[in-house]
Amino acid sequence: MKRTLCSIFILLILGQTTIAWGFPWNKDFVDQLAIKAQESLAPPGPNSVPVEGGESLPSLSALITEQEMDALKDAAAVIQNPVPANAESVVLGEYLYQMNCWVCHGAQGDGEGPVGLKFATKAPVDLNEDYTQDQTDGQIFFTITRGRALMPFYRDALSVEERWHVINYLRQAFGS
Ligand code: HEC
Repeated sequence: MKRTLCSIFILLILGQTTIAWGFPWNKDFVDQLAIKAQESLAPPGPNSVPVEGGESLPSLSALITEQEMDALKDAAAVIQNPVPANAESVVLGEYLYQMNCWVCHGAQGDGEGPVGLKFATKAPVDLNEDYTQDQTDGQIFFTITRGRALMPFYRDALSVEERWHVINYLRQAFGS
């Protein structure tokens, strides 16, 4: 009787220890496929297709001339704006404009934002002018997505839908 009790006691103690529970099957989580600290996401494989927005744009690192850029922008003219320009979209667009574009293009869209005023060679475009307002939504979408020589691109910072909200705001706030 004493012996049985003793064995049960020892088994109970063993049952609680990490040795009993930990070895060797507790390493599974460490060995799984996961992004570790300092590692970056694997780049998409060849022929990967974006799941939203139908963006088939040239590589961001490709150096192209202004003429080539304008040709690509004109080819994007046919892209339709799928986001209705309702009040909700315009409010969202205003918020996103203030976060992303305001520093250069300014509150009035005239290019006189605090950073915009510092451009030495070419000032940020005045978004009120016909040059921008006469472009289709698709062309402006292209510029926001791809950036230009002196303008950063927003394909990472703004989702496809957010870019359309910004365009709806540009139409409503600037121009005539
Ligand atoms: C760092 C400053 C900067 C920021 C931020 C910026 N822009 Fe620009 N933008 C410029 C400059 C400079 C140009 C003229 C670029 C050129 O022709 O190389 C320009 C040009 C443009 C044009 C005209 C492109 C054309 O057809 O030639 C549009 C439209 C525009 N910006 C919209 C936006 C919107 C919308 C945002 C925010 C999502 C934004 N920009 C953020 C500096 C900026």
